[in-house]
Amino acid sequence: AVDISKLRDLSGFVTLDTGYKNTGCTKSAITFLDGEKGILKYRGYGIEELAEKSSFIEVAYLLIYGSLPTADQLKDFQFQISRHTLVHEDMKKFFDGFPSKSHPMGQLCSLVCSLSAFYPESLSPHPTKEEQNLTIIKLLAKMPTIVSWIYKKSLGHPIVYPQNKLDYVSNYLNMTFGQRTEEVEIDPVVVSAMNTLLILHADHEQNCSTSTVRIVGSSECNLYASISAGISALWGPLHGGANQAVIEMLEKIKNDGGDTEKWIAKAKDKNDPFRLMGFGHRVYKNFDPRAKIIKKACDDILDKLGIDDPVLDIAKKLEEVALSDPYFVERKLYPNVDFYSGIIYRALGFPTDMFTVLFALGRLPGWIAQWKEMRENKEPIGRPRQIYIGETDRAFVGIGDR
Ligand code: ACO
Repeated sequence: AVDISKLRDLSGFVTLDTGYKNTGCTKSAITFLDGEKGILKYRGYGIEELAEKSSFIEVAYLLIYGSLPTADQLKDFQFQISRHTLVHEDMKKFFDGFPSKSHPMGQLCSLVCSLSAFYPESLSPHPTKEEQNLTIIKLLAKMPTIVSWIYKKSLGHPIVYPQNKLDYVSNYLNMTFGQRTEEVEIDPVVVSAMNTLLILHADHEQNCSTSTVRIVGSSECNLYASISAGISALWGPLHGGANQAVIEMLEKIKNDGGDTEKWIAKAKDKNDPFRLMGFGHRVYKNFDPRAKIIKKACDDILDKLGIDDPVLDIAKKLEEVALSDPYFVERKLYPNVDFYSGIIYRALGFPTDMFTVLFALGRLPGWIAQWKEMRENKEPIGRPRQIYIGETDRAFVGIGDR
């Protein structure tokens, strides 16, 4: 790789790489990804081992601060988070303004950006280490509360306040599936599944939403606004929104009689905009290691919860056919993380339009870590160049003569 960013005598020369397929934008020590070999590591630890042996909050600490926490560091981290789980009561008024069926991702990006209005210590373009850390803790603490409120709003149910004696994931599940008057018993199978899903989504180097967080933050914009921009980028169906699109597609195929061959033919037809959602990845060209773990978790959870989901059969059929079809083989299109995550979220009882919000909840520590690294490395403002192909030198024509 050649670092041309330090060269000052290249005026007139621009590298054109739409979609940044081969353009690096930073040096990062957070996540290692080898797309050919299907390797994903956070701070040097394999994703398989982290998913099996650690909790989401440990992984969050690892990504943000660089190493796995000691028992004392973890206790302190959890304590700090638990002190900030409440969200300013005035923010509840926003919910009165949203239509009850508005998409949760639209609500989430507005609410996260609004945190900057309530917690203005985040606004300094050059926060002290303490101010920056406080914002990080607040964001980690308040995001599950906000996400659970969004869900309660969609049901028209009263919100459930955080219970700080619970661990991060159980607290979130209690605020989501619990009721105001009683604490529900959270099934450890569900807590473990949620931990796995959140860990697998926690970071993925310079993807669309993460690059957005870094580029917005590079203008010295505050962390809440930068993360809110990342949430917007995640929403699209070619990125995080794919997990919702996958289930919608599987439902459609099921309701259409379950003819997977017909839908695969549609995906291959270049005159048809339909794509097989949950297939393909910009970087993974052999397999997505997260999909491998999720596929197994999916089988385990459906089995443990005793759920027989017909869309899973459609998913398995699609995977089988697609993986032996030359169109998909030649283009190296394999199931990605979103292909199976939706089936698990569904089994856990989440409605489809909450799936991408859950992705955001998992990706939060990665976005924070990437924003923090970018600021600590004093990276310059992100400002891509272009090649202008429009008109030049046009004479102005008055409105009466056009
Ligand atoms: N179904 C059918 N054909 C596909 C698919 C698909 N899911 N994905 C790619 N292709 C085809 C393209 O039509 C193209 O074919 P061509 O060479 O004949 O023109 C070729 O494969 C390469 O595709 P690109 O779009 O150039 O690949 P790119 O790296 O730009 O896109 C992406 C990657 C966006 C993930 C794409 O594979 C896609 O749209 N997948 C479906 C959406 C999805 O699952 N997104 C989630 C990604 S993972 C995540 O964000 C967590």
